[in-house]
Formats: sequence, structure tokens, C-alpha cells
Amino acid sequence: MLYRSRLIGFGSYLPKNIITNNDLSKKIDTSDEWIRARTGIRQRHIVSNETCTSMACCAAEQALRYANLSIHDIDAVIVATSTPDALFPTTAVMVQKELGMKKGFAFDVSSACSGFIFALSVADNFIKTGQAKNIILIGSEVYSRILDWSDRRTCVLFGDGAGAVILTAVKPQENNGILGIYLHTDGQYSELLYVEGSPTAQQQNCYVRMNGKEVFRQAVNKLSEVVDEALIKNNLKHKDIDWLVPHQANLRIINGMGKKLKLAPERVIVTVDKHANTSAASIPLALNVAIRDKRIKSGDLVIMETLGGGLSWGSALVRI
Ligand code: UT7
Repeated sequence: MLYRSRLIGFGSYLPKNIITNNDLSKKIDTSDEWIRARTGIRQRHIVSNETCTSMACCAAEQALRYANLSIHDIDAVIVATSTPDALFPTTAVMVQKELGMKKGFAFDVSSACSGFIFALSVADNFIKTGQAKNIILIGSEVYSRILDWSDRRTCVLFGDGAGAVILTAVKPQENNGILGIYLHTDGQYSELLYVEGSPTAQQQNCYVRMNGKEVFRQAVNKLSEVVDEALIKNNLKHKDIDWLVPHQANLRIINGMGKKLKLAPERVIVTVDKHANTSAASIPLALNVAIRDKRIKSGDLVIMETLGGGLSWGSALVRI
């Protein structure tokens, strides 16, 4: 390892348009009570004229301001998304264009709700090997475009938004930065959570389909394993962790992971109530909230974890 990556910038964007559970209950057979009890979700932000690219740009610009960097300092843009505006050019290339970045490279990473952690690992490796010094990493999603709004089992669960971080290269002996990232996939579970239809077939609609109960069961097991893996490989104990910043899919899963880590509830960052599940954007959105309200501070040890379609799952240990 030539360098360590440190997170030095944080930003986000949420569409102005908010849809509450009660709004949904006027259109489909659901209720605020059911959604809150089963998921913890109270509302979600849904795009009106925003796009995957426009949200990613806003989040990236905010992260650049936080880091006190200009776009000309950036070597690479990576966007984690399953809902790009086009198959290509990639969202990352469009962000590069919109922000006026004239050098370096940009590309997308797709791994459903695990996209941010997978892309964080990619960015981390570019930095560790000296291939890039500063990287903007964005999770941006427009799930409202791939939801079947007549399917109450899925459409109440998701929202739109974008979160961004900036990674920079620091000396490998520095304490702060990414300590380890642990990734897994298992295609034998591909039918539990997938998108039906394909955006490559012209004019064909595509919809998220999920076996919620089974995904829930897998999430509880696999997230436990991958959090243990991060602790064991870094010779850490539960008490060493300051914050859990989990993927925001379901409050019951989030609380279960907090208990497993023996963390007090106030040490678990929860945004699922306000954002719902924003897939690859959910972790950077949650991280951004807790950095800006000054709960998470420099030197704090954060564990992130996620599970999504694939199935794919992973964890990341980061000292802020
Ligand atoms: O980000 C990727 C990872 N995703 C996840 O981690 C999600 C994991 N799964 C879950 O969060 C939960 O399984 C759900 C929130 C999706 C569902 O909760 P559940 O407790 O597993 O409910 P269920 O699917 O077993 O449904 C229970 C009942 C069913 O009725 P019957 O068959 O018992 O009569 C459903 O038809 O609730 C019904 N139901 C609803 N009722 C009102 C399903 N969706 C709704 C709804 N409103 N929106």
C-alpha cells in the first residue's frame, strides 16, 4: 500500500418533492401504520425534474466545497447507480462534463443497494496504488423510475437521492482513513431481488421485484457475518466502534445490527424514516447527515454495512 484513502468531503442532494405514507395510501391499498411498523419509513423524496446526473452533480459540488477542493483537483469520478439516465455515456462521465472536469477519468459501478460500498472499494484501490490522488465517489439513484407503483410490496420502500464523498491520498501510516472493505456476492440468490424487464429493450418498462421476507432473512445473517469479518480482520472489539452507518432499507434490520454491535441506539445513524431506501445513495446520504450535524467527528471509527440485489453485501471500516 503506497497510500491510505481518507474521506475529506461529504455532500448530498434530495429532491424537493416529498411523498408521505399517507399520500401513498390514497393511491394504493396501504397505510402509514403498516409502512412505519414494518419498515420505519415515514416519507420519501421523489424526483420531479431532477435526474440521476443532476442529483449526482449537486451532491458532488457540496462535497467539493466541504473538502475545500476545486473540480480541477479531482483525478476520477465514480458513480454507484442502478438507475443511470442512459446506459452510456455513464452518469459519471456526464458529471465530469457538467462540473467542467477536463482531465482524469469517470465511470459507473453497478451493484444495486451495495453499489456504494463496492465503489468505495474500487476508489480505495485506485488511491492505495497511487493511480489517483483525489476521487469523487457518488451514489445517485432514481428508483422511482423502476418501481411498479401498483405493487404495494415494493413501491412504498424506495426513494430518490444522491450522496457524495471525496477520497484523498494520505500517508499509509496515518491513523485516519479506510481501514478495510469486505465484499461478497452470491448469484444463487439472484431471484430474491431483481429488476424485471430491461432498459435496453426500447420502451419496455422495468420494475423492482423482491421476495421481502427472504431478503430480510438473508440480510440479518449476511450483515452479521460481514460486520464480524471487518472486526476480526482488524483485531477490533465491539466497544472500539463509535458509529454504525448502515444501508437504510428497514429500521428493524438497522436496529438488529446496532444491537449485534452492542451500540447504544444513539450511535446508529438512521435516515430511513425520512429518505426510505435510496439504494446506492443511502449510506453516503446517512453519512452526510451525521457529519453535518456534527455527531460523527474526525477520529471516530465508523462501520458501514449493506446488502442488496445479487445478492451482494459488504462492510467498510473507516476512521473519519
Ligand atoms: O435494499 C435491499 C435490501 N432490502 C431489504 O433489506 C428489505 C428486506 N425486507 C423487508 O424489509 C420486509 O420483508 C418488507 C418491509 C419488505 C415486508 O415486511 P414483512 O414483514 O416481511 O411483510 P410481508 O411481505 O410478509 O407481508 C405481510 C403482509 C402480507 O399480507 P398477508 O399475505 O399476510 O395477508 C402482505 O400482502 O403485509 C401485506 N403487505 C402490505 N400491507 C399494507 C405487503 N406490503 C404492504 C403494504 N401495505 N405496503
